[in-house]
Amino acid sequence: MNKPKILVVGSMNMDLLIYDVPRIPKMGESVFCSSYAYATGGKGSNQAFAASKQGAEVVMVGRVGADDNGRILAKEIEKAGVRTDCLSYDKEAQTGLAIMNVDKEGKYFSCVALGANENLSPQDVEAALEKEKFDMVVMQLEMPLEVVYRTYEMAAERNIPVFLDAGPAMSIPLERLKGIFVISPNEAETEALTGISVENEEKAILAAKKLYKEAEPQYVLLKMGSRGAMLYDGKEAKMIPCFHVDAVDSTAAGDTFGAAFAVQYCKGAKMEEAIRFGHAAAGICVSKKGGQPSIPTEEETTEFLKQQN
Ligand code: RIB
Repeated sequence: MNKPKILVVGSMNMDLLIYDVPRIPKMGESVFCSSYAYATGGKGSNQAFAASKQGAEVVMVGRVGADDNGRILAKEIEKAGVRTDCLSYDKEAQTGLAIMNVDKEGKYFSCVALGANENLSPQDVEAALEKEKFDMVVMQLEMPLEVVYRTYEMAAERNIPVFLDAGPAMSIPLERLKGIFVISPNEAETEALTGISVENEEKAILAAKKLYKEAEPQYVLLKMGSRGAMLYDGKEAKMIPCFHVDAVDSTAAGDTFGAAFAVQYCKGAKMEEAIRFGHAAAGICVSKKGGQPSIPTEEETTEFLKQQN
């Protein structure tokens, strides 16, 4: 398939990135950081931006406020080629805002005011699914849970595979996601979903099995940071290592991994090959500051991969 068509459902936030956060402050305390920047983000918007840069035709279903940040977010994903005809502008709520506190190693903790994202509805998704056909639906959890469940159900009725990036970390019932194509949490998200901290491969296998039992997906795909990713298909667990890069900012790396994986898979790549491509795209993303501004194109990712061989 030359140009897969992907529907991304999820959040859109303006990100305020604060760099070189020395440590998590205590309540009532301030810590000094080196610099800051604004960038367009939100897990859904990052996935849409990345899928488009990676060569898919992308339609975004999301909700922003009728304010400057909302317009900036829409314009940025449009510039990346994402179709915004299914975006809604909320007159009652502000556009979501995330404060991304990034440390010297590129890791972050964040505070997110979801704003208009909280008003996204299953009807918004249904309208998009009714209009046209898609090869895959890509989503995450930064939106009302009912939208997550209904999106899966509506996609399943139409035989569209769904890729779920299970972020941000939360414990949710997985009953209504039974049969999903891929469920892909990172380490913190895996712990929130399973109660198992994946500090080693044995524990990761236990967590993958637990998730598999509960959600009955085709694949569990655990993102394990610099250790790579673990793919579990109900029979076999396999570690697919990632590439070593100097990490500067991990914002949007997970979103980029999932989107690049989804596009490559739709284009006909085998699971492991698509995961390697996802690793490469995420590797480029973490080596630069900011979320969307550091998401690579498919060509840049292919070039990066060539240099690794
Ligand atoms: O996954 C990264 C994203 O999470 C950021 O862009 C921020 O908006 C938060 O939602």
